[in-house]
Amino acid sequence: MADKKQFTRRDFMGFTTFAIGGFIGLGLGIPAIAYITGPARKSDANQAWIQLGPVSKVELNTPTLFKTTVTEQTGWIVNEQEISVYVLTENGRDFIAMSNVCTHLGCRVRWVTEEEKFFCPCHNAVFTKDGEVASGPPPKPLNRYEVKIENDQIFILGG
Ligand code: FES
Repeated sequence: MADKKQFTRRDFMGFTTFAIGGFIGLGLGIPAIAYITGPARKSDANQAWIQLGPVSKVELNTPTLFKTTVTEQTGWIVNEQEISVYVLTENGRDFIAMSNVCTHLGCRVRWVTEEEKFFCPCHNAVFTKDGEVASGPPPKPLNRYEVKIENDQIFILGG
C-alpha cells in the first residue's frame, strides 16, 4: 500500500505542459506540412479545359492552327508554355484536336495545304490530315486532345 504512486502537483504541471506543447505543435505542424506538400500532391490534378478560339475559325476539311498559352504547375514550379493545336472538322459538328508535336522526337509539324499532309522537317515524317503516320519514323499518330464546344468556342482538355 505504501508503493501507491500519487499524482502530484509536479506530475500535473508536467503533463499539462506536455499536452499544451503537443497541441501547439500539431496546430503549427499540420498546416505547415500541408502547405509544403500541397502543390506536389496536386500535380496530377492540373488538367483543365483550355479555350482555343471560335468554331467559325475552323475551315471545313482543313486542319486549322490555334495557339494559346497554358500555365502548368508541377510542385512549386510554375511554367507558362505556348501550345499549338490543329483542329479539324469534316462536318462542322465533330471536331478533333491534334498536337503539332511530332511523335518521333518532338519537332513541330506543319500543315501544307497543297499536299494535304502534315510534314515534320526534322526527319521527313509525313502525317495524314487526321494525324495518322503516312511515312517516316514516328511510332504513332499525332497526339489528340479531348474536345468540347461551348458557346461556339473550342476547348481542349490539357495541362
Ligand atoms: S522529329 Fe519528326 S520525324 Fe523525327
